[in-house]
Amino acid sequence: MTDVDVLILGAGAAGLMCAIEAARRGRRVLVLDHARRAAEKIRISGGGRCNFTNLHCAPANFLSQNPRFCVSALKRYTQHDFLKRVEAHRIGWHEKALGQLFCDDSAQDIIDMLLGDLAAAGGRLLLETEVTAVDRPDERFSVATSRGALRAASLVVATGGPSIPKIGATGFGYDIARRFGLAVVPTRPALVPLTFSDHHRALCQRLAGVSVDATVSVEGTRFREGLLFTHRGLSGPSILQISSYWREGRPITVDLLPGTDAFAVLKAARAAHGRQDLRTALAALLPKRLAEELAGEHGLSGRLADASDKVLRKAGEAVNAWRLVPAGTEGYRTAEVTLGGVDTRELSSKTMEAARVPGLYFIGEVVDVTGHLGGFNFQWAWSSGWAAGQAV
Ligand code: FDA
Repeated sequence: MTDVDVLILGAGAAGLMCAIEAARRGRRVLVLDHARRAAEKIRISGGGRCNFTNLHCAPANFLSQNPRFCVSALKRYTQHDFLKRVEAHRIGWHEKALGQLFCDDSAQDIIDMLLGDLAAAGGRLLLETEVTAVDRPDERFSVATSRGALRAASLVVATGGPSIPKIGATGFGYDIARRFGLAVVPTRPALVPLTFSDHHRALCQRLAGVSVDATVSVEGTRFREGLLFTHRGLSGPSILQISSYWREGRPITVDLLPGTDAFAVLKAARAAHGRQDLRTALAALLPKRLAEELAGEHGLSGRLADASDKVLRKAGEAVNAWRLVPAGTEGYRTAEVTLGGVDTRELSSKTMEAARVPGLYFIGEVVDVTGHLGGFNFQWAWSSGWAAGQAV
């Protein structure tokens, strides 16, 4: 029987941060993970370069049933604190766009930094270990694993969400929460491509590979970033962002020419060169293949001079306010994160400890706090892991 002060389930971003902080405080820390390697999601993140935080990180970048829950942790351990840590390890970084910070070389630099700090602080890591039962027979937790029984005064659940199951992601953290009677907000895939079952599916297939700058909106929430047509539907940052807000049956509105009034441009084109074909005029505004598909979908053709204001307005709307109803998402298979999770009403926003189960903590993605795309999800993992690390 191994006895420790702090047992952390999940050697991902949040679990490792919590482990380092607790070990630096002199706690006996053991981190356990069923995967062969620690922090697989960090490794594959940001296209292999890990978008490890965002300079503009603020509570408004997070979705939760309680939008205020994340405030305390984000304030106590900020993006600037994490950046200082990265710089102290001489890891090269750069800002890509919109405050997003990436490693110059490889996401592995972040993993090496975390594992190095953990070892230096005296924390231990046990990989390829399955948890078979979690119990709290007395003041301490008992955890049965494939490598034997463990006892711990504090149990930290940092097992993340079920997105990308092929690299070991599970919903195990929700099972533990329920096992101790804690509420779990229903989960769904987020930051995920949208799919179509109507004629838009074939249209996306024909346009696969085409990308544009776009503003995508759902009921008042909008994101302006890249949009990519794929064989399965729509992807790209603007679509991933809006997927966190979209719900089944509702339309999304896509502005394919943000900041430009396509109707006004087409009217001016009619006045200047009326003999030009409407399709040609559209192709001056958008990638040619996309312009042709839109013209086909909305029945737009003929000379500009023959097009009434009504027709041009219809063409303008097709460009600036294209409405589509997604059939669904690509699901957990490709989702970058999971919306929902352990209900924040069960947890202290200062320490992440469950109010009703002293010694039980939930951190990172397993909690009902989900960031926008752009480094916010890692910042939540660092901040919530740090906060619990001061308390366990
Ligand atoms: P995380 O998932 O990192 O760690 C959980 C750990 O628990 C894993 O090691 C897993 O093996 C382990 N585990 C799960 N079930 C277990 C069980 N039953 N027993 C034992 N261990 C178990 N975010 C961002 O801010 N910037 C970015 O660039 C990206 N890029 C990105 C790309 C891709 C492809 C994905 C899928 C996700 C991202 N993200 C991201 C999101 C980010 O990776 C995610 O929010 C964090 O990794 C969450 O950190 P956690 O520590 O909470 O969970």
